Amino acid sequence: MKHKRNITFSYEEADNINDLEQSDRELVEIARETAGNAYAPYSNFRVGAALRLESGRIVKGTNIENAAFPSGLCAERSAIASAATNFPGDKITTIAIAAETDSGITDEIVSPCGNCRQVIAEEELRNNNSIRIILSSRSSFYIVEKGEYLLPLQFSIRNLQSGRR
Ligand code: THU
Repeated sequence: MKHKRNITFSYEEADNINDLEQSDRELVEIARETAGNAYAPYSNFRVGAALRLESGRIVKGTNIENAAFPSGLCAERSAIASAATNFPGDKITTIAIAAETDSGITDEIVSPCGNCRQVIAEEELRNNNSIRIILSSRSSFYIVEKGEYLLPLQFSIRNLQSGRR
């Protein structure tokens, strides 16, 4: 038998930063400011990620590019690495992402790349919590309740464990 399955998820969309709750607005503003610290001479696409941790601490990250292109780092993973290194055990509750080009904050929503989704998914699994993700452009905002939603049918530690005895 074959079955048709559907995977769907809902997210909130706002078209004004003032419609976000105060703590989310603050995180988006920090992500925007942080984008200015990026080192992105090759793409001129500067990304900022701001994480809120369970303690209330905020940890920031930017993309850091390299002449050897694959050595470049994304903003999200820079921020996650910093949080995991400096504040171990302090779980990530929310990630806000923003980007700018030479024309200012992007018109398009910026969404994490596949590698970053994989890393966000593992943070959720290892900490047994959901991470809210706030995607943003200049004038629109998507709030996704779980990183898992951005990576359906994910490969995870569960796959590795399933072959063990
Ligand atoms: N980039 C990020 O840092 N995060 C994203 O969510 C998308 C892409 C970076 C990688 C590269 O330095 C530049 O943006 C263009 O892809």
